[in-house]
Amino acid sequence: MAMVSAATPGPKPSQTRRPGERPHDAVSTRVVLAMQGVTKSYPNGRVALRGVDLIVPEGDFVFLVGPSGAGKSTVIKLLIRDEVPTKGVVLLDGRDLARLKRRDVPRIRRKIGIVFQDFKLLPNKTVRDNVAFALEVTGARRRDIDPAVDRVLQVVGLTGQANQLPGQLSGGEQQRTAIARALVHNPRLFIADEPTGNLDPLISWEIIQLLLRINDLGVTVLMATHNAEVVTAVRKRVVALENGRIVRDQTGAAYHRED
Ligand SMILES: Nc1ncnc2c1ncn2[C@@H]1O[C@H](COP(=O)(O)OP(=O)(O)OP(=O)(O)O)[C@@H](O)[C@H]1O
Ligand SMILES: [Mg+2]
Repeated sequence: MAMVSAATPGPKPSQTRRPGERPHDAVSTRVVLAMQGVTKSYPNGRVALRGVDLIVPEGDFVFLVGPSGAGKSTVIKLLIRDEVPTKGVVLLDGRDLARLKRRDVPRIRRKIGIVFQDFKLLPNKTVRDNVAFALEVTGARRRDIDPAVDRVLQVVGLTGQANQLPGQLSGGEQQRTAIARALVHNPRLFIADEPTGNLDPLISWEIIQLLLRINDLGVTVLMATHNAEVVTAVRKRVVALENGRIVRDQTGAAYHRED
């Protein structure tokens, strides 16, 4: 029997929609990240994740919370393929990360921008060069690098500090440099592991505002944090881990369970 091809004449589902009507959400929303039945045991026998299911649609802002040792950083290590699951699958943009060929890993990783608590800047490079370096290693052309760096420095508000070294910056400025570096290759998913862990409350708040803005620009954001005040104030999706399991997944939620 012949397969019905896309070229077959006849009514298409979209023709049944009224003008201006949105298509069904399941069709229109792209999934950036999916974890299905993910268990992670480390070689020393420690089980960090147990049967985790998580779907993150494009444009979401997700706080990953939970006590120390709950498995938050392990989720992130699986997403950047620093680790592979013991059981289950991790899909980034529909690709099973465990099945990637080694040579495809850098390309898939570029869909992700990541920042950590300890910034990880190169101390002997200026702000501008730290950010540019992230593109240089991908083989980008100089004439593409300079405008991209200018654009992200503007997004994070560091145009005036472009020629300073990390040691000449405040903690908040160092984190903003790290954020610019993570953004410069236009990632689909922005991951932050305790980005405000080393910052005082006021500066932490500035960093969160910046992540919200990045989210407004269309980038999906996943942030692991212990910062209860910030999580409760901004009312985004909260995924809570405990002992390697998701114990709560709520939109518009507080840091602590409220029921
Ligand atoms: N490389 C590793 N080898 C063995 N065990 C590990 C490794 N990394 C993490 N673990 C263990 O896995 C569990 C989850 O750790 P993980 O770092 O994911 O927690 P976390 O939620 O990020 O904690 P924190 O809030 O302290 O950062 C912990 O019991 C930890 O000791
Ligand atoms: Mg951690």
